[in-house]
Amino acid sequence: MKNIVLIGFMGCGKSTFGKKISKKLNYQFVDTDKWIEKQQGQTISSIFATQGEAAFRQMETEAAQTLSKEEGLVLSTGGGMVKTPKTMEALCQNAIVVYLKATPEHIFQNIGHDTTRPLLQTDDKLGAIRRLMEEREDLYQRYATVTVTVSGHSITGTTNAILHQLEGLL
Ligand code: S3P
Repeated sequence: MKNIVLIGFMGCGKSTFGKKISKKLNYQFVDTDKWIEKQQGQTISSIFATQGEAAFRQMETEAAQTLSKEEGLVLSTGGGMVKTPKTMEALCQNAIVVYLKATPEHIFQNIGHDTTRPLLQTDDKLGAIRRLMEEREDLYQRYATVTVTVSGHSITGTTNAILHQLEGLL
């Protein structure tokens, strides 16, 4: 049984859709950020503040290496996991990778008021979202087995689109 790995920018809905499709397919759902927080006994914000981003990226690699040994998981990943080749090498093993693509405006609407994402704690959040997304877009595309557009669609519509794309791949 393959794992289903959801990638995409912060706030695109990886956890929301991950939970929904895991229920439909009877897979186990794991959120890598939550997994890391549990392992560390610290929130993501606190890890960034006390240990820095590089240490967090290393934790993501460990999460990917550990979780990819299992099968039948739906994994919701941190939006920056695509930055580390070693992490993606582990994650993509025996997995179908679904890129959830959203516009910067949609992301801003979803998480404009969020305070738990260290990389977006700036006065110009939309600008930061645009910059980071531009930096990462090629990476999301590179690792995606399939891409599903989230913006402009209902939650049910997107969930069904993901399930439809997965048909024949599982
Ligand atoms: C990050 C995304 C976050 C979290 C951390 C860094 C990123 O996860 O891992 O704040 O670099 O894009 P979500 O994509 O679940 O928000």
